[in-house]
Amino acid sequence: MATLEIHDLHVSVEAENGPREILKGVDLTIKQGETHAVMGPNGSGKSTLAYSLAGHPKYTVTGGTVTLDGEDVLEMSVDERARAGVFLAMQYPVEVPGVSVSNFLRTSATAIRGEAPKLRTWVKEVREAMDKLSMDPAFAERNVNEGFSGGEKKRHEILQLELLKPKIAILDETDSGLDVDALRIVSEGVNRVRETGEVGTLLITHYTRILRYIKPDFVHVFANGRIVESGGAELADQLENEGYDKYVKGGASA
Ligand SMILES: Nc1ncnc2c1ncn2[C@@H]1O[C@H](COP(=O)(O)OP(=O)(O)OP(=O)(O)O)[C@@H](O)[C@H]1O
Ligand SMILES: [Mg+2]
Repeated sequence: MATLEIHDLHVSVEAENGPREILKGVDLTIKQGETHAVMGPNGSGKSTLAYSLAGHPKYTVTGGTVTLDGEDVLEMSVDERARAGVFLAMQYPVEVPGVSVSNFLRTSATAIRGEAPKLRTWVKEVREAMDKLSMDPAFAERNVNEGFSGGEKKRHEILQLELLKPKIAILDETDSGLDVDALRIVSEGVNRVRETGEVGTLLITHYTRILRYIKPDFVHVFANGRIVESGGAELADQLENEGYDKYVKGGASA
């Protein structure tokens, strides 16, 4: 069972007037097979947590530990983290001009599996995965995210998730900007991966509607750079009704 353990994580970014601490002691353990929803106000540091786990160079870890099965994740390069099984679906996926979706996916799969997938089976694998996500096959030949609509970008993230089969999947607002049908299709994709029991999921979201499709085992409230409360699925409903007031009082989050 793969386990991602985050302990007392502190992260800063370089702001105009010097370093600014964004994460202020995050504690979270995610095991393979579990789904954790993280909810919290804008600017509380959720994406910073996601990027820090994936190894984005803009974020400096100033304290704490992150381990995957006891291995020090913070010591790993971005590539090593991906190979170790950490996957990030970004809140704002970036364009990769000049690289087709098909090449991008094959290069990623090669890096992660340690060998190039056999072309014949690979083409079939991609086509089937795209089909399940109701993606037009023509997307395979388009440049990554170039001119993609918001919803198309999110589907492309889930396509990667399905093909790369990570141990830990961090989904940063994969549900935002999706129409009702796309939300269902994307959720079904996440659930297919989840049902293998081989992935631990960190689902960052603002909306309980995705949690109707993807039932979280745990819900965490994120405020002012750390997790301030944890509970079961019922906590999400409570947040929807009551907001974050009681968690942000005393310290502005943004
Ligand atoms: N380079 C930077 N310089 C200054 N502040 C930064 C920088 N990068 C991030 N921040 C700040 O860090 C805080 C946390 O941002 P983050 O994107 O992690 O929030 P979030 O919880 O994901 O919010 P949202 O729900 O809106 O996506 C914000 O106040 C943001 O302005
Ligand atoms: Mg964010």
